[in-house]
Amino acid sequence: METRRLGKGGPPVTRLGLGLAAIGRPAYINLHRSRDLPGSRSVAAMRTLAFGLLDHALEGGIRYFDAARSYGRAEEFLAGWLDLRGLRGGAVVCGSKWGYTYVGGWRMDALAQEVKDHSLNQLVSQLGESRRLLGDDLRLYQIHSATLESGVLEDREVLTRLLTLASEGVVVGLSVSGPRQAEVVERAMEVSVDGRNPFTAVQATWNLLQTAAGPALRAAHDRGWGILVKEGLANGRLVDAGEGGGRVAESASRRGVGLDALALGAILSQSWCDVVLSGAVTSRQLDSNLEALRVTFEDDELSELTALAEEPAEYWARRAKLPWS
Ligand SMILES: NC(=O)c1ccc[n+]([C@@H]2O[C@H](COP(=O)([O-])OP(=O)(O)OC[C@H]3O[C@@H](n4cnc5c(N)ncnc54)[C@H](OP(=O)(O)O)[C@@H]3O)[C@@H](O)[C@H]2O)c1
Repeated sequence: METRRLGKGGPPVTRLGLGLAAIGRPAYINLHRSRDLPGSRSVAAMRTLAFGLLDHALEGGIRYFDAARSYGRAEEFLAGWLDLRGLRGGAVVCGSKWGYTYVGGWRMDALAQEVKDHSLNQLVSQLGESRRLLGDDLRLYQIHSATLESGVLEDREVLTRLLTLASEGVVVGLSVSGPRQAEVVERAMEVSVDGRNPFTAVQATWNLLQTAAGPALRAAHDRGWGILVKEGLANGRLVDAGEGGGRVAESASRRGVGLDALALGAILSQSWCDVVLSGAVTSRQLDSNLEALRVTFEDDELSELTALAEEPAEYWARRAKLPWS
């Protein structure tokens, strides 16, 4: 699979990566989990599912895997799989995130699934946990859902620790979510601690229903940052018939690919995008997502498709209402 360098001096990463948010824990916000997941969501059943999907991703050419401390046992599953398959030492690139703790206790009915804390203490303790599991295969470490309100981009102690991490050879990034994604990326580009900025990568939401962060991501890319795109299918909404409108379905059927491949292909064709994350839960979904790599567009068709986008406030209000299931 084609690779891109993940930001200045970063490792080469495959254009399609696999995100583990949906398979590291029993509950998540994507739409059809009861259809996709095994009857039992025990730790053992989810581990088996994860290992199978990771094997399938490797066979399909994927070499970038995205986790977070808050994705339940995602880092643990990834680490166990790397050991089992003898993939330690740089065969794949692993990224993870700090800033949220998983508090779901492996229960579907937990009052909360994750809790946010962007303090230095949290960074130090979660970085230790991530490194214990992923070791030197942890090549990208991101602030999980950085916001302006949390003050994390103004926190000198956190930024100084992140500069040290960058000097140790780990790509330091942030992920962003919500209607103010672009502002957060712009602010992150301006960060300066004694003249230095720790960030060289950002992970953001961009899809046919939500394109508002595009100009900020292009600017970050022009600065030499690595750009990863998450939620490329709008958490599954774009695969549900009708959500992207008839234009998406018509474009997909003309190419003989699924709606998912069409939607992910539209992201891959953005010149500023380095990696698109698949959020597949089954091998069948992943195979279909991989078809995105062979989808190409004429410029005018792409503009027609991106014209489907919703207002950011509307899109994110809907996203906020997705239930954990
Ligand atoms: N703040 C952050 O940092 C943040 C936030 C979100 C995600 N992420 C990262 O981005 C990754 C991807 O996010 P996402 O899972 O929300 O991505 P997504 O691509 O928007 O949604 C993936 C979901 O789409 C559905 N799907 C995919 N292929 C399909 C197919 N061929 N047919 C039918 N349905 C299909 C599946 O859900 P259903 O079958 O259940 O509908 C799948 O779980 C995550 O794993 C994580 O690594 C990061």
